[in-house]
Amino acid sequence: MSEKPEYVPGLAGIPAARSSVCLIDGAAGKLQYRGYPAEQLAEHCTFEEVTYLLLFGELPTRAQLEGFSAELARERSLKFRIIDVLKQLPESGHPMDALTAAVAVMGMFYAEGDHVADPAFRRLCAIRLVAKLPTVVAAWHRIRRGDNPIEPRTDLGHAANFLYMLEGEEPDELAARIMDVALVLHAEHSMNASTFTCRVTASTLADPYAAVASAIGSLAGPLHGGANEVVLQMLRTIPDASPEAVRRWAEDKLARKEKIMGFGHRVYKVKDPRADILQGLAVSLFEKLGTTPIYSIAVELERQMKDLVGHKGIAPNVDFYSGIVYEKLGLDTDNFTPVFAISRVSGWLAHLLEQLEDNRIYRPSQVWTGTADRTVVPIADRG
Ligand code: SDX
Repeated sequence: MSEKPEYVPGLAGIPAARSSVCLIDGAAGKLQYRGYPAEQLAEHCTFEEVTYLLLFGELPTRAQLEGFSAELARERSLKFRIIDVLKQLPESGHPMDALTAAVAVMGMFYAEGDHVADPAFRRLCAIRLVAKLPTVVAAWHRIRRGDNPIEPRTDLGHAANFLYMLEGEEPDELAARIMDVALVLHAEHSMNASTFTCRVTASTLADPYAAVASAIGSLAGPLHGGANEVVLQMLRTIPDASPEAVRRWAEDKLARKEKIMGFGHRVYKVKDPRADILQGLAVSLFEKLGTTPIYSIAVELERQMKDLVGHKGIAPNVDFYSGIVYEKLGLDTDNFTPVFAISRVSGWLAHLLEQLEDNRIYRPSQVWTGTADRTVVPIADRG
């Protein structure tokens, strides 16, 4: 009898690490960072507080938070040669590719002869990556349209400073708070594809910039973080918000076995708790700025999908309402996934630190499906 473990496509349900960073109960729709419910963190904490919690395991005291926030603010700026690298990239390129490139080269600019085995170096890399990602995203946003990047400010919070660097206008309190909550909600989500990618790269003792660059590449795909951009494009193809039009559209898609973006999840079999909070954020923005027809279409699509495929556990995920929030905040559609990255970098780094605390290189096995022991025929004799 063979004792070989069974192959599981997508490693569904296979534990890839022992972790104390994030707990998800997919049947109950429960999400906790370091044991704290995401809903409470979104209500009471800033992104800086949540990043501290993820990286170091405990919520900071006021003094710890002040020190940590000051460190982050000091590390926001980029060396001008990283800006030069961004200036060489084609302006038609996707912002996620620009972000991957900039983070990969950061490892060269901030190497400083240290090694990842040194906990102080790892901590500094983590602070730099969290601090600098928004600066890269904002800089690329401006460079690709021919404008100079805006220097980060140290007197603004992480979320407010990001919005400021995009257009040079200080955001109002509501916009800054909503951006902050969106960052909190996307910061961590256990063993998703990009986090797994980050842990695999980190397990080779590659530097943290390489690990995060690989994670950004993984997040970009439309089955993962890239879905938030595609959701909005998809909603725009639905002719109107009437139940008949939306149902016809959804039935056609499902009949063609096409995936409906922003729905479904490997772990959640109910509505993703983050989707509920993001939907609430969209509504609070509408109260101030007026609603958008896309929102009515989204709500109707959620209703019709519940009827059509709700019994299969397919419900809105985090990406379904986030794009509507970001669009109302004035972000370009192709910047939605980079915003996911500037938040998720905290989770990636929490996992990187955890991985390196007790590292063993990832090296799974495979199920061989080829023909073995073949003999090479020299090219002259091949028919
Ligand atoms: C994120 O894992 C994470 O934590 C990720 C994330 C995070 O915070 O990091 O939560 C962020 O990536 C959210 C997901 C964004 N992606 C999308 O919205 C793309 C659309 N969703 C799917 O492609 C899909 O649901 C996945 C990729 C999210 C999950 O894929 P699985 O677990 O491999 O599930 P599957 O594709 O095998 O589907 C199982 C069944 C199939 O039906 P049957 O063949 O069994 O009849 O559910 C159906 C699928 O056809 N299905 C869908 C669907 N999602 C699943 N049918 C229509 N539309 C969908 N969106």
